[in-house]
Amino acid sequence: MKSMSVTDDYLWFCQQVLHKTGLDLQQYKRPQMERRLRSMAERVGARNLEEYWVVLQRDSEQFAYFLDRITINVSELFRNPEKFDELRQLILPQLRQLSNSLKVWSAGCSYGAEPYSLAILLEEMRPISYQILATDIDETILGKAREGIFAPEDMRNVSPEWRQKYFVQQGNRYQVKPELKRNITFRKHNLLADPFDSGFHLIVCRNVVIYFTEEAKERLYIRFYQSLVPGGVLFVGSTERIFNYREIGFEMPLSFFYRKPAPGLRKAA
Ligand SMILES: C[S@@+](CC[C@H](N)C(=O)[O-])C[C@H]1O[C@@H](n2cnc3c(N)ncnc32)[C@H](O)[C@@H]1O
Repeated sequence: MKSMSVTDDYLWFCQQVLHKTGLDLQQYKRPQMERRLRSMAERVGARNLEEYWVVLQRDSEQFAYFLDRITINVSELFRNPEKFDELRQLILPQLRQLSNSLKVWSAGCSYGAEPYSLAILLEEMRPISYQILATDIDETILGKAREGIFAPEDMRNVSPEWRQKYFVQQGNRYQVKPELKRNITFRKHNLLADPFDSGFHLIVCRNVVIYFTEEAKERLYIRFYQSLVPGGVLFVGSTERIFNYREIGFEMPLSFFYRKPAPGLRKAA
């Protein structure tokens, strides 16, 4: 890069990242993203993002750290337990009316707390069968998700009964039992760029879009709508209300749950 003003280096940096990883930082809100990038750059002594890119190019550990930080992986099992109670008591029974074989997508699954929480609820509904697709943009975190080992902080919303039934305690870690893993497929997927599967009864995308621009969010929700079967439900995070849900075609049976209408479906919620 030839001489470049401090503000231009942000766009230049975004282009380098897009070229190398396929991750388009310009679809994330600029003020938050730029603040984070500049503080990471400072941390390694880089004076601007051009210098930071040079560091990232030669140091793969720094690169992994950079990817980890910009995608923020915070999670826990049954995050916002009251919403998972609503899912269990009101939404899942209705989805069961649609099919005995539920197809579920945990989009932005981080280290797996969310898809394993869903697997517990679905195991509890047997004899129905289910498949969970669990995706994230971050390959490293997907490796952790596949292992299915959780710290005590991840487990605070898991009842003693379910701890006993679905986990093996090893010291102060909790390993999920194989029966919880066998219906989950973990796959790398970028919500802002990759093609979407279809035929889902439930899509769970929570605490992922907070840094996306309004346009990126709107595109994403339209694509989720298209990926759901009629009667299927999108479950979003507790700060992620979709204001224009009617325009997209959704109805809202409960806060933070958006349903694709299905003519003739008996409404429990
Ligand atoms: C805060 S975690 C949310 C985990 C879980 N959904 C929950 O609510 O606890 C956000 C996850 O979104 C992923 N993510 C961020 N941008 C993404 C994108 N463009 N495509 C797919 N996943 C993305 C991050 O890697 C991170 O693991």
